Amino acid sequence: MNNFIFTIPTTAYFGKGQINILGNTIKSHGGSKVLLAYGGGSIKANGIYDATVSQLNGAGISFVELNGIQPNPRIESVEEGIRIYRDNNCDFILGVGGGSTLDACKAIAAGVKYDGPVTDLFVDESGISSRITAVAPLATILTMAGTGSELDMGGVITVGEDHKKKVVLHPLLNPKFSILDPEYTYTVPEHHSMAGVADILCHLMEQYFTPDVAATVQDRMNEGVMKAVLEEAPKILADPQDYDARANIMWASSMALAGFQFVLGKPGFPFPLHGMGHELSSMYDMTHGVTLALLTPSWMRHTISTAPQQLPIFAQFARNVMGVSEKDDTIAAEAGIEALEAFYAAIKMPANLREAGVKEEDLEVMAEKAVENGNLGILTSIGKDEALQIMRMAF
Ligand code: NZQ
Ligand code: ZN
Repeated sequence: MNNFIFTIPTTAYFGKGQINILGNTIKSHGGSKVLLAYGGGSIKANGIYDATVSQLNGAGISFVELNGIQPNPRIESVEEGIRIYRDNNCDFILGVGGGSTLDACKAIAAGVKYDGPVTDLFVDESGISSRITAVAPLATILTMAGTGSELDMGGVITVGEDHKKKVVLHPLLNPKFSILDPEYTYTVPEHHSMAGVADILCHLMEQYFTPDVAATVQDRMNEGVMKAVLEEAPKILADPQDYDARANIMWASSMALAGFQFVLGKPGFPFPLHGMGHELSSMYDMTHGVTLALLTPSWMRHTISTAPQQLPIFAQFARNVMGVSEKDDTIAAEAGIEALEAFYAAIKMPANLREAGVKEEDLEVMAEKAVENGNLGILTSIGKDEALQIMRMAF
């Protein structure tokens, strides 16, 4: 295992009624004038907005609003947030929503402290957003489980005419605190709830399928969280107000990327499925988690066929996570992939790119863009040709 440093600077307030700490906790972090940011209005329909405002008012904290942050959030929302924050002399940012709102808030938090265009702050050659040297304090109220943004140091912003997805990534971007009330996710539409599940599972898999460096603790913990996700997600389908199922999926969302704990001490960090999936969102504005479910089985089969030496890790996944008991590695690995496909079908993900509305003639340009910042390989090389092969297999 390689050397690493591990800290999680975000405090998680988890469970029913945790909103009650909001006002005083913002104050304890020096917040007196808050930029309150949210998405398309679901928080007004389900009462989370009222609960938030009542906390702010109760603590004597004034606020201004940025609303209308869209799924796959646009840089224009970030720029508007920076303007509102500065024009109103805010000193704290509160994001209330899913990953899109939280990510936009992270970019705003960095942008308000940077003297230049916020587009300078995306990940550079160093592997993080090295131009970020200070950020405004940020807290989040999570309303949808999936991205892990509530406990991680990253954000994904859509930029430009071709809707390229760019990443801000810096340890300073971890929220000061996040409120995680599973009841707040009861109203998430089924499609987004299940896309969130697919996203969580993929975050775990992207950290699991790496070269073997005997990181046994990380991998066994990871397998446990994956199994919990497989067990709990169908309960939400059966009853969207199953508190314990919502709670477990929410905590899995947070744990999957908290401090990138399952990839600590392991080599490489290219997240190939995310690299390719983001291009589907850019081209079709497709829901993030859906893109990952569409590509994962093909990526697995492609990896096994081009790098047979990687077969054991897929057989291990099949046995330890998907419950396959087959002894032969080749048969076990394929059975594991088929079980994963059955799970995606059970949570109502589209079966292939064609069913998801993708046009075959777009595959080549998406494959090319997926690798424009470098090879996405982790277990085997993924340049343009391989990305295209994987997309064709998924079509
Ligand atoms: O806009 P609102 O009204 O909030 O509605 C949202 C949106 O329509 C709705 N929703 C959320 N909570 C709800 C609710 N509807 C009813 N009741 C609630 N309680 O759900 C829809 C989707 O929301 P969104 O925030 O877009 O979903 P998600 O959390 O999946 O975020 C996706 C974004 O996160 C990025 C993705 O690329 C994508 O842009 N990611 C961020 C990561 C990170 N920060 O670490 C990692 C991920 O891999 C991912 O890339
Ligand atoms: Zn993701």
